[in-house]
Amino acid sequence: PVHALTNKNLDSFEQIPDTHDWVQPNSFPSFTDQSNISDLSSDTDSVPLIDLSLPNAPKLIGNALRTWGVFQAINHGVPISVLNSMESLLNDLFDLPTPQKLKAARSRDGVNGYGRFRISTFFPKSMWSEGFTVSGSPLEHFQILWPHDCTKYCDIIEEYDREMKGLCGRVVWLALGELGITREDVNWAGPNGDFPTSSGVMNLNSYPVCPDPDRAMGIGVHTDSCFLTLLYQNNASGLQVLREGKRWVTVDPVPGALVVQVADLLQILTNGLYSSPFHQAVVNRDRKRLSVAYFFGPPVHAEISPIKKLVNPTQPLLYPTVTWAEYLCKKAELFNDTLPSIRLST
Ligand code: SIN
Ligand code: FE2
Repeated sequence: PVHALTNKNLDSFEQIPDTHDWVQPNSFPSFTDQSNISDLSSDTDSVPLIDLSLPNAPKLIGNALRTWGVFQAINHGVPISVLNSMESLLNDLFDLPTPQKLKAARSRDGVNGYGRFRISTFFPKSMWSEGFTVSGSPLEHFQILWPHDCTKYCDIIEEYDREMKGLCGRVVWLALGELGITREDVNWAGPNGDFPTSSGVMNLNSYPVCPDPDRAMGIGVHTDSCFLTLLYQNNASGLQVLREGKRWVTVDPVPGALVVQVADLLQILTNGLYSSPFHQAVVNRDRKRLSVAYFFGPPVHAEISPIKKLVNPTQPLLYPTVTWAEYLCKKAELFNDTLPSIRLST
């Protein structure tokens, strides 16, 4: 069993109060029974890699999101220096002594701070990971972590947030444009289509070296409950997406690339044409893995519904109108129902 594995850092999480009351995902539209999923894909089956600077990028994006729900983007316009600074922030953050990190622990009702994955409390086994969530300003916690360099680290977060938000806006319009969707169709896009009221939440993740990776998970299978996710990963692999409900495909790290993933609300908006992929993160025996997930979403009370022009006799209405807040509640209920069918490790 996973709990027999011990890691000094991760064990200290026992000191963090559990946050079972947090309303978070896991299952949309329904959890897949993993018993008939084969372990890994063949080499020929890999997540599309798309050069966003090419003229046919929109078409490639449309295809990728229809068939995979995920792709890797290169030439995405985010300067490599921004990604490198973020990676050094992650190294500095997770290398801090555990007692120091625990001083910045997320409070029971809070969103921000150091701790386990929020959704990890829904899984029966411990996750081999530690994380730090940033929603809004990281100032309060960064002052505790880095009393002398706080501004430097806050600037890195701010710049990363700006770049990710900009890229999400660009990718969303390229993706929606392929379905004939325009700004008028998306009520929270704002007059210029730059999503002025969107929200972005960042999860900074570390998956330490694990002595027995087959018996642990970095994070269990789930779909993301925001609108679109951008993931940066360092050069250690771990992210896997479920392909055709049948097999796990590893998203091999490509230097400088960002993983673009459909999340649940985009699946709803497109009436299921773009699907929010099931994914998980496995851990490594010899390499520490770092990742940053940027969750892009609408204002929590904006109504999201399938776009009318995507509803027709061949593609009947699949989802009701929901706000992000309502959706999170719904998903937590679903997840609790399906918990027993989830297998976390092989
Ligand atoms: C996530 O799904 O939130 C994290 C995945 C990863 O670290 O690759
Ligand atoms: Fe995720």
